[in-house]
Amino acid sequence: MGARVLSPFTAIDRLRGRLVALRSLRVTDASALDTLLRDGRVTRLLPPRVRRETGRQFVTRVLREQRRGEGVSFAVLPLGSDEVIGQIRLINWSRSERTAEVGYWFRRKYWGRGFATDALRLTCRFGFRHLSLHRIEAIVVVGNVGSRRVLEHVGFRLEGRSRRAARLAVRWADEWRFGLLRGELRC
Ligand SMILES: CC(C)(COP(=O)(O)OP(=O)(O)OC[C@H]1O[C@@H](n2cnc3c(N)ncnc32)[C@H](O)[C@@H]1OP(=O)(O)O)[C@@H](O)C(=O)NCCC(=O)NCCS
Repeated sequence: MGARVLSPFTAIDRLRGRLVALRSLRVTDASALDTLLRDGRVTRLLPPRVRRETGRQFVTRVLREQRRGEGVSFAVLPLGSDEVIGQIRLINWSRSERTAEVGYWFRRKYWGRGFATDALRLTCRFGFRHLSLHRIEAIVVVGNVGSRRVLEHVGFRLEGRSRRAARLAVRWADEWRFGLLRGELRC
C-alpha cells in the first residue's frame, strides 16, 4: 500500500536533514530569492522563465502552482539559521502517474558544502512518503556537473539525453534526463 497522501503543508515544518532544514516557501522569501535570481552564475542554466523573474514574481507564481496542487515548494535554511540560502521544488506533480520533477537553486556562497545534496534527499523522501510518488525526474543542462553530482549522490540515474532542448541566453543546449524510483533513494 502506498504512503498516505497528506496535505503538503501538514509535514513541511518537520523536514530537518543533517545540514539543512526545509520549510514551506512564503511570500516573505521573495527578497532573499531575488538576491539569488540577480546572480547570473546561479541562473545561467535555469529555464528562460526563471531567468527573467524577480524574486516576487517567482514566489507568486510557484505559490499559485502550489495552491492548484501542481507542486510543493520549500525554502532551504542551514540548520540553526534563519537565512534562506536556496529553494527546492517538486513540480509537474501528477497524482495519477505518481510522478513529479525536482528543481533547485542555491546561493553561490554556499555552494560545495553539501547543502544541495541534503536538501534534495529531504525533498525526495518527502515526495515518496507524503505525496506517494513512484518516480521523481530531473532535467539538467548538459555540462552542469555540480547538479549532476548532487543527483547521483542521492541515487538518481542518468536515463537519457534530449537534443537542443534547453534554451540558454545565446544558444540551445542538450539536456540530461535523470530518474529516481521509489526505493532507490540513498540515505
Ligand atoms: C547545482 C547546485 C545546486 C549544487 O549545489 P551545491 O550546494 O554546491 O551542492 P553540494 O555541495 O551538495 O554538492 C555538489 C557536488 O558537486 C560537485 N561540484 C560542484 N560544482 C562542480 C563543478 N563545476 N564541477 C565538478 N563538480 C562540481 C561538488 O564537488 C560536490 O560533489 P562532492 O560532494 O562529490 O564533492 C548549485 O551549484 C546551484 O545552485 N547552481 C545554480 C543553479 C542550478 O544549476 N540548479 C540546478 C538546475 S538542474
